[in-house]
Amino acid sequence: MDFRIRHLTVLLLFLIGKVSASEDVRFFSVETGPEDTARPRGDNFLSGPVTVTVNVQQSVSRIGSHFIGVNIDTGTVKDNWISLNFSSKKVLSMAQALAPTYFRLGGTYADAATYDFSGGYSHTSVDHDAELGLTGVITPFNMTAKQWVAVSEFTRAVGWDMIMDLNALKRNADGTWNPDNARQLLQFSADRGYRIAGFQLGNEYDYYQPTFNITVSPPQLAKDIIALKNVLSEFPNYYSAFVIGPEVVHDFRFYVWGFLISGASNVVRAATFHQYYFFGLHAKLEWFTDVKRMDGLAGTIDQMFEATRAINPNFPVWLSETSSAYGGGAANISDRFVAGFLWLDKLGVCALKGVETVLRQDFYGGNYALIDYYLNPNPDFWLTVLYKRIVHGPVFSVTGRKDIRVYSACANTDSFSPGSLAVYILNPNNYSVTFDLPQFKSQPRYVYSLTAGDEDGLLSKFMALNGKKLELVDDKLPELLGQLVPSGGVTTAPYSYTFVVFHQAAVSICREF
Ligand SMILES: *[C@@H]1O[C@H](CO)[C@@H](O)[C@H](O)[C@H]1NC(C)=O
Ligand SMILES: *[C@@H]1O[C@H](CO)[C@@H](O)[C@H](O)[C@H]1NC(C)=O
Ligand SMILES: *[C@@H]1O[C@H](CO)[C@@H](O)[C@H](O)[C@H]1NC(C)=O
Ligand SMILES: *[C@@H]1O[C@H](CO)[C@@H](O)[C@H](O)[C@H]1NC(C)=O
Ligand SMILES: *[C@@H]1O[C@H](CO)[C@@H](O)[C@H](O)[C@H]1NC(C)=O
Repeated sequence: MDFRIRHLTVLLLFLIGKVSASEDVRFFSVETGPEDTARPRGDNFLSGPVTVTVNVQQSVSRIGSHFIGVNIDTGTVKDNWISLNFSSKKVLSMAQALAPTYFRLGGTYADAATYDFSGGYSHTSVDHDAELGLTGVITPFNMTAKQWVAVSEFTRAVGWDMIMDLNALKRNADGTWNPDNARQLLQFSADRGYRIAGFQLGNEYDYYQPTFNITVSPPQLAKDIIALKNVLSEFPNYYSAFVIGPEVVHDFRFYVWGFLISGASNVVRAATFHQYYFFGLHAKLEWFTDVKRMDGLAGTIDQMFEATRAINPNFPVWLSETSSAYGGGAANISDRFVAGFLWLDKLGVCALKGVETVLRQDFYGGNYALIDYYLNPNPDFWLTVLYKRIVHGPVFSVTGRKDIRVYSACANTDSFSPGSLAVYILNPNNYSVTFDLPQFKSQPRYVYSLTAGDEDGLLSKFMALNGKKLELVDDKLPELLGQLVPSGGVTTAPYSYTFVVFHQAAVSICREF
């Protein structure tokens, strides 16, 4: 999904009657009135600790080292990377802090790109998009060698594993995918020794009709992805690269099933889908702390699993493009402290449901990026780094309460001793909540309390860790240390999220994985 043009396109198509209001429910925003909210009222909810029990006897799924990844939208290439400076020390530090990770270069503009390396390395064709927003249609553009070299060298330097979204709309007269231009990119990359972990073909097929006025059926797309796998096998460098698909954003059940059953299940590494909670342009601050909206994601994931499990109960599912709000995120909300509630909850829900990988839209670009246009970290950058450092391995189910969210998994053994347990808690309420964790009451623990970084509160551009505002120091990340607390319960501040690591929990499942 392109972060700027998507909403313009939808808006335009809507105005000219190409998209009906009902079709737009693909974005499944939950419209709740002020009286219809999960936010509890009354003192009985506000007083008294919540008892939390973690079922450490049995894990429900597992978080791998590549659980969280990042996207950069292909539209950013079209705009010649906007202000993204791949040589910036700040950018390099922040990107390295996210490694190991998948990095997907993809989106609506992937299907508008031609790889034009004819100009060679020094070729520049900065084609700034004067037409953007005027017609609302996706216009073709050329990705130059210089642009491709820049991102490929960067990816290599920071240790990211790239997933390249290739143009699926290069088609022959008979409707089959034409791989000629993709071969040029592969040859160019192979000649330079670029490692590319995986590939995709196109973006959001179930939305091609309104975006491109064409339809690609699930069986056709399955043929295309098999053709792509065959093309990759022509290149020793990419012979073992994986392919993923079908990148749906709406038709989670039928399209995915039709794609997999038509032969794609033999070649794709994972079935992929996209998800956003609502449209950024109209988003309201309170939607970002609304547990009812958070709850919507589980149903979407269930639909994906319904399709994949009909093929194979263990087929991996990836959420390969996701953020708070589509249309580039909500201006001045999706890049603020408050955005972390939907993001952390999404990570918790995906971990619990067994979604293997979650690719954040996006690292850079739009309002929902982890780093801003001045190349400084947004609050969700810190949250993502902390999550990667703290949480890893088997995932456990947890009891909680309606107005708060609690998740648990093993603690990352890169940072903590084997057997350590992580619990993470979202308090999206304007009151403080205290937790009893009877299993761990007498144990020491490291607490990472994350609150708004300044007086702007939920709309703060900053995040504080245990009361200290997080900022880069000399273009590097500061130490991100937990506070050692000897025993007791856990009290969470209003509007906060908290990681707690019980480093002496000696959970056997967390020792052995
Ligand atoms: C990009 O970053 C490098 C390294 O900090 C710097 O030398 C260069 O001037 C920057 N480029 C731009 C266009 O800001
Ligand atoms: C892309 O490059 C090709 C070959 O160099 C050129 O013919 C074409 O006009 C370019 N297209 C755009 C949209 O710039
Ligand atoms: C969409 O495609 C159809 C069939 O190819 C064509 O007749 C129609 O004019 C196209 N619509 C637009 C808006 O381009
Ligand atoms: C976001 O904040 C900037 C800077 O304060 C302001 O210029 C802009 O109008 C705001 N955008 C919206 C949609 O509120
Ligand atoms: C908390 O939110 C409720 C409902 O939105 C409101 O009535 C109450 O005044 C708020 N309390 C504080 C301390 O802000």
